[in-house]
Amino acid sequence: MTQDELKQRVAEAALEYVEDGMIVGVGTGSTVNFFIDALARIKGRIDGAVSSSEASSTRLRAHGIPVYELNAVGPLPVYIDGADESDPQLCLTKGGGGALTREKIVAAASERFVCIADASKLVERLGRFPLPVEVIPMARSHVARQLLKLGGQPVWREQFVTDNGNLILDVHGLQIDDPRGLERAINDIAGVVCNGLFALRPADVLLLASAEGVRRIT
Ligand code: 5RP
Repeated sequence: MTQDELKQRVAEAALEYVEDGMIVGVGTGSTVNFFIDALARIKGRIDGAVSSSEASSTRLRAHGIPVYELNAVGPLPVYIDGADESDPQLCLTKGGGGALTREKIVAAASERFVCIADASKLVERLGRFPLPVEVIPMARSHVARQLLKLGGQPVWREQFVTDNGNLILDVHGLQIDDPRGLERAINDIAGVVCNGLFALRPADVLLLASAEGVRRIT
């Protein structure tokens, strides 16, 4: 199976977590795009969605799925999103698509976070995928110097502006032995809006697709 077929398979499996009348939290990325397309088939059964990016909002609306502001609704029952890496404890690296801040907000506002990925995303230790950090533009160099002190090699994702009008530094070479500690340490740097470690609020369920089927890890 191709990676896209695996992404589609796991996206379809996530429909199991969508119940009638729900407002569904929807993440961002190519795996989530398959989920949005699958959600469209049952759109008459749901109330609508809260989205973590302009790109996902556009895709949801194109399918005729109502998109609500998070402020207009209460806590969400479920949030479905992809990841760049997951460790066995379901701590994640996210933000390859640059939507990490809104993703973290919607995940925080959701009772259950279901992460969907192909099996290549499961790793013993996070850090092979460069860690995205969203920064206020004027703080870019300052934040980069602090990230160097934490042992990383920050690379500015040039020509990219987040939905919030900020910049992304992709941090290479981090040894992530303590995901929660590192998430806090990066959050503490002045000028950081958010970092792509989802360890303080990890996923609750990881659905992993391989050629053999979809495995559920909790
Ligand atoms: C976007 C994300 C995505 O969930 C992550 O990059 C995985 O994307 P894909 O499903 O395309 O592999 O965090 O900011």
